[in-house]
Amino acid sequence: MIKDRPAAPLLEVRDVHVAYGKAEAVHGATLEVRAGEFVVLLGRNGAGKSTLLHAISGLLPMRSGTIRFNGRDLAAATPRDIVRAGIVQVLEGHRVFHSLSIEDNLLLGTYAANPRGDRSKLARVYDMFPELAARRHEMASRLSGGQQQILAVGQGVVGDPKLLILDEPSGGLAPMVIDRILDVASHLRRSGVAILLVEQLVEKALRHADYGYLMETGRIAAGGFVDELREGDLLQRVYLGGHA
Ligand SMILES: Nc1ncnc2c1ncn2[C@@H]1O[C@H](COP(=O)(O)OP(=O)(O)OP(=O)(O)O)[C@@H](O)[C@H]1O
Ligand SMILES: [Mg+2]
Repeated sequence: MIKDRPAAPLLEVRDVHVAYGKAEAVHGATLEVRAGEFVVLLGRNGAGKSTLLHAISGLLPMRSGTIRFNGRDLAAATPRDIVRAGIVQVLEGHRVFHSLSIEDNLLLGTYAANPRGDRSKLARVYDMFPELAARRHEMASRLSGGQQQILAVGQGVVGDPKLLILDEPSGGLAPMVIDRILDVASHLRRSGVAILLVEQLVEKALRHADYGYLMETGRIAAGGFVDELREGDLLQRVYLGGHA
């Protein structure tokens, strides 16, 4: 069976190089997320996944290469421009503000797109995460680590992304938390939000994704539909990295 990816490109990353000072960590990465896709980016520790995601979000400068989103070149875009264009990233190990309420943490997530904040965006997140709705006026410090991670994802969702980037949302937390987060990501995808996920829990990630890339030492070494990836040796390459 020949499958095609959706025709419309959303995120186009071409030959991107990113360095920390003189030390280059991403050596020419190329990948795409098409409209409405759920894409997973796999790779061992230190492969350069987070570095590449930071370049996409404008948090790290590129040394060379191009990143286009919705047809627009992001070379000169600030992180705020990029959020406004519709790319929202939930950072690896993202921490919420402990001394703020759940509701205020969520409201903060709306500021990048709207400097006055936008309470109307919160209802959707409360629908998705009733456990947050029930406790909206409690301090975030009262949530468990897993619930805080869910709140961090909620902060991303209120930013109204066209592309939601999740960097290791499992973060070493309970399996139930990652199941919850991946279910929500799939739900968002069904409502038209594209997803780019980095996750070490490979099996769980593949259950939700359409398409996957493998990153090895700063390059995208392979890419394919999830069922193709399952058939090839790509998964062994990730598993041999110690994340079985
Ligand atoms: N702030 C930094 N300064 C210098 N080097 C860094 C910095 N952050 C990461 N690196 C290096 O860049 C390379 C890629 O790291 P990166 O964090 O992007 O990998 P990763 O694939 O996200 O790994 P992990 O699965 O552990 O999150 C590694 O060699 C790492 O040591
Ligand atoms: Mg990382």
